[in-house]
Amino acid sequence: MIKVFDHYDLSEHNTMAMAVGCKRYIEYDQKEDLPQIVKAISDKEPCLHIGGGSNLLFTKDFNGTVLHSRVLGREVASESDDAVALGIGAGEKLDDIVEWACEKGWCGLENLSLIPGEIGAAAVQNVGAYGTEIKDVIIRVHAYDIVSREFVTIPVEECGYSYRQSRFKREKGRFIIHSVDICLNKHFIPNIKYPGLRDLKNAINPMDIRNAVIALRDSKLPRPEQTPSAGSFFMNPQIKPERFAELLAKYPTAPHYPAEKGLVKVPAAWLIDQCGLKGVRVGGAKVWDPQPLVITNPERRATPGDILALEKKIVDAVQERFNITLHPEVEHVGGRPTLNF
Ligand code: EPU
Repeated sequence: MIKVFDHYDLSEHNTMAMAVGCKRYIEYDQKEDLPQIVKAISDKEPCLHIGGGSNLLFTKDFNGTVLHSRVLGREVASESDDAVALGIGAGEKLDDIVEWACEKGWCGLENLSLIPGEIGAAAVQNVGAYGTEIKDVIIRVHAYDIVSREFVTIPVEECGYSYRQSRFKREKGRFIIHSVDICLNKHFIPNIKYPGLRDLKNAINPMDIRNAVIALRDSKLPRPEQTPSAGSFFMNPQIKPERFAELLAKYPTAPHYPAEKGLVKVPAAWLIDQCGLKGVRVGGAKVWDPQPLVITNPERRATPGDILALEKKIVDAVQERFNITLHPEVEHVGGRPTLNF
């Protein structure tokens, strides 16, 4: 079924709790609705497909159509003694699926516990935490291709995944994901490489890891339903080894991790912390003390302008002190078309 709402309030659809609206809001609950919806949307107006709105910053009212999937469903497509292949609707909440998998004893998703958002959006941005990215379990993605106007199946090798990046982000507006196939292990092989999980050598099942990840996240990250935020506001910068050598000469204790293509990942949280910005405020926007990579809206009174001003303050401070440019992980939606039909 397709539901259409005019002049719709988006406050409950973005975890930053920005009080913004859109011209039209459309929800649908089956993939078969997509051709009709795409046909009906004007190509002169911007259109944005959202998931749980947990990685979005609306910088003003959205002067176009916002789409949201309610395509649910979790089914076992096939299974062997060793593994299980699942088909998951794009509108399912990621954490509901993680919890379900852990209850079944299936291994692979547990490190992604408590990440807000929905499966479709998770597959777009390749969400990750504690040493796992969702690309590690995805087999293929099913989508509606707005260019060819047909349903397509894209194997994971063709999804162009890397750190918080994918073909769906690069070709923004082309594909609407309606379901994702993932493969989980029936044998428990814990991923405890992340420093905060190394003590879990006695974990006996995925639920043990899930519980530890939840405790770890709660100690560092705000729960969006209590303190509005969009999780990590910035990506961790990946710098060339020569640049990192210069940084290390000045700051011998700088934390760092090996990254893709020989680059070195430096935690943005550390850079921001070094600039003394923990707890800093602009209007209603505040840097989260336990994890300064997160910008919060604690009293739900921050305007988009407050968030943007605090973002600029952080970027400028890190640039000046370290000569490193921070890039937002949060997608800024400012009324310009992000999805062109
Ligand atoms: N740090 C400080 N000061 C602080 C906090 C942290 O210096 O006040 C330093 C510490 O050295 C710490 C390092 O920052 O070891 C990294 O912090 P953390 O391990 O908490 O994670 P992160 O690299 O900042 C990433 C993801 C998170 C994910 C965590 C855990 C990005 C942009 N963020 O953060 O993802 O939960 O790792 O794996 O990659 C999200 O994307 O919304 C998100 C929360």
